[in-house]
Amino acid sequence: YEIYLNGMSGTVPRLPTDLTRLEALAEHRLGPGPVGYVAGSAGDGSTARANRAALERRRIVPRMLRDVHERDLSVEVLGRPLPAPLALAPVGVLSIMHPEAEPAAARAAAAHGVPYVLSSASSTPIEQVAEAMGDAERWFQLYWSKDREVTRSFLDRAKAAGFTVLVVTLDTPMLAWRPRDLDQAYLPFLHGVGTANYFTDPAFLAGLAKPPQEDPNAAVLHFLGLFADPGKTWPDLAFLREHWDGPIVLKGVLHPDDAREAADAGMDGVVVSNHGGRQVAGSIAAADALPGVARAVGDRLAVLFDSGVRTGDDVFKALALGARAVLLGRPYVYGLALDGQPGVDHVIRCLLAELDLTLALSGHATPSTVGAADLVADPG
Ligand code: FNR
Repeated sequence: YEIYLNGMSGTVPRLPTDLTRLEALAEHRLGPGPVGYVAGSAGDGSTARANRAALERRRIVPRMLRDVHERDLSVEVLGRPLPAPLALAPVGVLSIMHPEAEPAAARAAAAHGVPYVLSSASSTPIEQVAEAMGDAERWFQLYWSKDREVTRSFLDRAKAAGFTVLVVTLDTPMLAWRPRDLDQAYLPFLHGVGTANYFTDPAFLAGLAKPPQEDPNAAVLHFLGLFADPGKTWPDLAFLREHWDGPIVLKGVLHPDDAREAADAGMDGVVVSNHGGRQVAGSIAAADALPGVARAVGDRLAVLFDSGVRTGDDVFKALALGARAVLLGRPYVYGLALDGQPGVDHVIRCLLAELDLTLALSGHATPSTVGAADLVADPG
């Protein structure tokens, strides 16, 4: 009620509480390069639109008189108690959005006890982000490089810096056809921001003829050439299992059979995601893929979800469709762009407050009681 009470006393929030309006405001304020980077998606954007439509199409059927006066948003994910079914999704090169970049987002997450998933393509080295987070829960996202030494080096650095969960992104063996990126001069754009996590990595630097400061073009091209690997197959996961002690989560799983493969390969979780519609144009909406994956492996793996989450009721719907928790993507990036750490804090607060109210008003005191019976398909 904090936000309502502030409103009564004439204080309005500095940023919109409606995260779609916040997105519009950020797009209005940012230049075409940064807007294109965040808002852009694959092809004509149909997958990103489908992600929203699939969530909007499902409607909650609220229940009454269920004693919701005391509520608890906490859940357990991968054996970890989390204060809410929420983590911040990995988003690369955040210095495009704000000079304080990843450490600002990570500090905001840490203050709420929400796990921060640090991207491999971070504009801040792993160690510096860890330092900004104290002993808060942190997960590391791996772009699984062609170069074994770079992969090994990233895993070692992340482990040493206290990252506990490894999130391996499978849906980006190559960058997709993203017109808004292709239509701008990408190489100079990437120079300006750097992907400092690679550019400070000893194994990455060993592959360069000259340091990135002397030949930034060559460094960026080297990065684009090795950051992912279209040649990987399921048996390759054994390498990661061998080099990572904690839970491993595969991000970008949409087919129930791939989820079963993940379970058979000894993985601990999956993120049902289509990368926010940035990889396969025309792909199945993430929310449409979620129930099938949850049915296939929900009893063996932690099933997480992202792609299209903008509101508390979206989180509720994802839980009802079988997710344990969701990853929040673009909204926190817009919060960061508009106001740094307080902007991300604002976004997390709004989302959690709205989730709390949605749960209560729908007759639930905890996320654990939400299920398929809480939703119907919009009859249109
Ligand atoms: C991403 N995403 C992403 N995923 C990942 O595994 N590593 C990364 O470095 C990035 N980088 C990235 C940059 C930007 C600008 C965006 C918008 C997204 C995907 C991200 O983790 C998540 O899957 C999507 O953002 C979810 O979609 P919505 O909810 O943001 O639309």
